[in-house]
Amino acid sequence: MKKILSLILVGLAFLTPNKVQAEESDMANKKVLVAYFSATGTTAGVAERLATSIGADLFEIKPQQPYSDADLDWRDKQSRSSVEMNDLASRPEIASKVEDMGKYQVVFVGFPIWWYREPSIIDTFMEAYDFSGKTVIPFATSGGSPMGNSGANMQKLAPGAKVDSGKRFSAGVSAEELKEWAAKWL
Ligand SMILES: Cc1cc2nc3c(=O)[nH]c(=O)nc-3n(C[C@H](O)[C@H](O)[C@H](O)COP(=O)(O)O)c2cc1C
Repeated sequence: MKKILSLILVGLAFLTPNKVQAEESDMANKKVLVAYFSATGTTAGVAERLATSIGADLFEIKPQQPYSDADLDWRDKQSRSSVEMNDLASRPEIASKVEDMGKYQVVFVGFPIWWYREPSIIDTFMEAYDFSGKTVIPFATSGGSPMGNSGANMQKLAPGAKVDSGKRFSAGVSAEELKEWAAKWL
């Protein structure tokens, strides 16, 4: 009788869904980074709200050489931003690096839309790390333009990653809306 009972117990132990439990705990431990570039503070506000609402780490993609007002003058064809955005190979330098990109599984990347796409410094960021196996989710603010080809452009620069098409938000988007949007990747 004792033997039968212990056999049943051993059998039950094998039936326990260990794999499911392991996967669930992996999900709960997902490390998430919100990295952003913001020339005039709008995207910074959205990025901060997003990071706080989902408990993610926050990293500012700071240009080695900050953008002056003249640099940002999109009416001037000779301005720094116009020249950079006209050259798909342009890679403006970033001042610092994410300390340990390896530990993140999910990376949100925020930026202002410049000329209907991601600013060149975002291309620098995408090429600066190995994003293989990671999920990258772009988000942006703009004067009204949508994401355009930003996600597809970023995917080309990080072929091993899974890059979403992302979403454009208005400057005043709430923490609740951001949290709800981000939930499916967490
Ligand atoms: C050089 C430059 C180009 C821009 N191009 C666009 C554009 O194509 N479409 C748009 O809706 N807004 C455009 N904008 C406006 C910004 O996307 C918008 O003001 C954004 O919210 C600024 O974010 P930030 O404060 O984080 O830099 C442009 C702004 C700059 C400086």
